[in-house]
Amino acid sequence: MCGIVGYVGPRRVVPILLEGLRRLEYRGYDSAGLVYHHQGQLQRFRAKGKLVNLEEVVDEHIGVASGTGIGHTRWATHGAPTKDNAHPHTDCSGELVVVHNGIIENYSSLRSELTAKGHVFSSETDTEVLAHLIEEHLEDDLVAAVRAALAEVEGSYAVGVLWAREPELLVAARNQSPLVMGVGEEACFIASDIPALLPYTREVIFLDDMELAVLEKGRYTISRVDDAQLLDKAVTTIDWNAAMAEKAGFRHFMLKEIFEQPQAILNTVSGRIIPDTGLVELPEIGLDEADIRQLERISLVACGTSWHAALVAKYWLEKWVGIPVEVDIASEFRYRHLLLNERVLTIAISQSGETADTLAGIRRASSLGAKVLTICNVVGSTMTREADGVIYTHAGPEIGVASTKAFTSQLAALFLFTLYLGQVRGTMDSALRREYGSGLIALCGVIEAELPRLQKEIRALIEKYYTARDFLFVGRGVNFPIALEGALKLKEISYIHAEGYAAGELKHGPIALIDDDMPVLGLVPRDGVYQKTVSNLEEIKARQGRLVLIGTGGDQHLAGLSEDVLYLPEVLEDLNPLLYTIPAQLLSYEIAHRRGCDVDQPRNLAKSVTVE
Ligand code: M6R
Repeated sequence: MCGIVGYVGPRRVVPILLEGLRRLEYRGYDSAGLVYHHQGQLQRFRAKGKLVNLEEVVDEHIGVASGTGIGHTRWATHGAPTKDNAHPHTDCSGELVVVHNGIIENYSSLRSELTAKGHVFSSETDTEVLAHLIEEHLEDDLVAAVRAALAEVEGSYAVGVLWAREPELLVAARNQSPLVMGVGEEACFIASDIPALLPYTREVIFLDDMELAVLEKGRYTISRVDDAQLLDKAVTTIDWNAAMAEKAGFRHFMLKEIFEQPQAILNTVSGRIIPDTGLVELPEIGLDEADIRQLERISLVACGTSWHAALVAKYWLEKWVGIPVEVDIASEFRYRHLLLNERVLTIAISQSGETADTLAGIRRASSLGAKVLTICNVVGSTMTREADGVIYTHAGPEIGVASTKAFTSQLAALFLFTLYLGQVRGTMDSALRREYGSGLIALCGVIEAELPRLQKEIRALIEKYYTARDFLFVGRGVNFPIALEGALKLKEISYIHAEGYAAGELKHGPIALIDDDMPVLGLVPRDGVYQKTVSNLEEIKARQGRLVLIGTGGDQHLAGLSEDVLYLPEVLEDLNPLLYTIPAQLLSYEIAHRRGCDVDQPRNLAKSVTVE
C-alpha cells in the first residue's frame, strides 16, 4: 500500500530514489513521484501509472543533483490514480513536500479548517492535508512543525518531509505504517521495506509507532513524535542481499519465486528438525513447554494466501496434536466478539508482517490476555516486534504480488510447529516425527525435480484453457484450502473468475454452474478421501464439466475421467498441500502470461496491505 523512499547523502539522488521505488513498486503502481533539492529549490516530478512513466519524465535529470530527496509509489486510497493525486504533495508555497503511506482518517475536517484559513488544495488526497498542516505550523523549525502537525492527525502514516530551506534535512515518522531506516557511512535512507535499501546498506533501524527520525548526511536522531527526548535504537544487520530481490534471468518475479520454493522450504526447516531423532527445536517461539502443555485452543489469524496456510494447519494440528483450532480472516477477527484468554494461543500468519488487519487482530488478542506468535517472512517487521514469539519463514524477499514461496514456506513452518506441539504434548512419538520431518526435507528434492516437467506440461495444457471466463478448483480434506489458494492465484493474476470449493460441497449449489464451458481443476491425490473426491469428480463429468486433474502418478482411473491429468509423485499424505500447490501456481502463472497479463503487478492490487 504505497512505498516511500528517502535519501540524504553525497551521492546522485535521483538514481537512488528510482532504484528504491523500483524495488517497492510491488506496494502500488497507480502513480509514482519524487522530489529532490537542487540549487536552492525543490524539483518535483510525478507521473500517472507505473514507475516507467516517471522514469521517462525524469530521464534527463538523472545525473543532475546529489544530496537529498524523497520518492513515492502509490496504491490509491483517497482520490483517483491521476498525476494530480500523485505524491509528493506540496504546501501552498511549494517549498514543503510530503510523501506518505497510510490514511489520514480526519483529513476531511482538517481540510475544511485549513481551507477556511486560506490554504489552497490541488489534489483529492488525504496526504495533501499533512503538507498544509505542517505549513501552518512552520516558522523556522521543520522538525517542530512536523511534530505539531502529527499531533493533530488521526490515522496511519509513514511520512517523509523535505523543506526547500533545509537542503540536508529529511524528517520521517511512522504510526501504523511500516518504515525502516538504512544507515550508511555518509548517508541515511528511509524506505517502506528492506529491499529498497539492499543495494546501499544492510544496516537498518526499524522505526516503531509514533517515532520520528531526523536524517542528515551521515547522522540521524530518533525520538518519539510527541517527545523530543532522544531514543537509543538498535541497528540490525539484514542477511538478505540485493541479488535476492532481482529476477535472476526469470521472466517474472513470480516464476522465479515458484522455482525458489524447494530452497525456501528447506531454509525454513533447516536447523529446526534433526531428521535422525525427529527432535524439533523452535527456540524463538516465546512459549515454554509448560505454556504449551496448558494450551486449550489455538486461534489462527491471517489474510489472503496466508489465511489458506492457516486453513491447512487446522487439519494438521487437530489431527496430530488433538487441540481445537479456529481459523479467522483477520478483517473479521479484529471486530468479532473474541473468546480469548491466556490459554488460547493466537498465531498470526503473514508474509510481510505488516498487514493492517492481521496486526490489528494480534493487538486485540494481546489485549485479551492471549499469547501471540507470528509466522512471518520479514525480519524486524511490525508483527515480529509485537508478538510474544516468532517463527521466521526463511523464504527470502518475495516481490511478486502473488504470494508463492512465502505460502509453501508458511506451510513448512506450520508443519514444523505441529511436530513441535506433538513432541511437547506427547501426541506424536519420535518415530512419527522422524518420518514426517524426513518427509518434509525429502519433499524439497521432489519439488525441485518435478518443477521443470510440470512447467512444460502445463504450458502445453493451458492452450485449451487460457481463454476460459470462469474456473472452479475443488479438493477435499487438507487439499481443500489448496483449491482456495489455486483459485485465488488464478483470479488475482489472470483476472479469470475462479472459485475454490470443498469437492463435497459442490452438490449444495455450485454444481449448477457446471456445463461444458466450465473448467474444473480437481486436486485428487490418493489419500484417505480419494474415493470421495473421485465420486465428486464423476458428478462433475456427468454434467459435461471439463476436468483438469492433478493426482498421483500411475492412477489410471484419472485418465478415464479426463484427458488432462498432471501426475505427481506419492508423498506423505499430510504433505500433499505443499506439493499440489506447485502445479496450481504454475497453471495460474502460465495462463496469466498467455493472456498477456502483468503477472508481477496485477491490476488493483498491492503486495503489502497496510490499510484496512
Ligand atoms: O503479507 P501477508 O501474508 O499478511 O499478506 C496477506 C495477503 O494480502 C496476501 O497473501 C495476498 O492475498 C496475496 N496477494 C496473495 O497472493
